Amino acid sequence: MPFSEAAQRELQEIIQRYPDKRSAMLPALAIAQREQGYLTPEAYRWVAEALDTSPTWVASVASFYTMLRKEPAGRYLIQVCTNLSCSLLGAKPLLDHLRQRLGIDVGETTPDGLFTLTTVECLGSCATAPVMQVNDRYYEQLTPERIDEILAGLRREAGTCGDDRTAEGHS
Ligand code: FES
Repeated sequence: MPFSEAAQRELQEIIQRYPDKRSAMLPALAIAQREQGYLTPEAYRWVAEALDTSPTWVASVASFYTMLRKEPAGRYLIQVCTNLSCSLLGAKPLLDHLRQRLGIDVGETTPDGLFTLTTVECLGSCATAPVMQVNDRYYEQLTPERIDEILAGLRREAGTCGDDRTAEGHS
């Protein structure tokens, strides 16, 4: 899939901000992921060409970051923090609740392609644990009831419940 003109323009604008093009690596990868949903070999080539480096180098940088996806994911990528603060405040039962509600295990995507469930190490919001991230949004101080509301909101947002109210949350 080719990259859009808007993405090309955005990338060129970002590159102008840095004395060394390669410093634009992470924003460039974020644009590529936004365009394609995850990082493909084509994305690595696109970024490498723009930054005057090699696709292998780009892929090696991407490999350090869990927020850069190397596999296709559902429309909503749910990342549940299972690190210490979140675990102490119930991350495991919340994860079980999500598995039960979505009918999938960690690492799987719902058959309708809507949700992918993953776990991550600390999301950097330990004071508001337990926390999960859905795409770019954080959801904090989670409870099973709150998770049900969030899933319902996301389904409405996706138009699978005939209601177009926007799911809440913050980035
Ligand atoms: S331990 Fe979950 S956000 Fe830090």
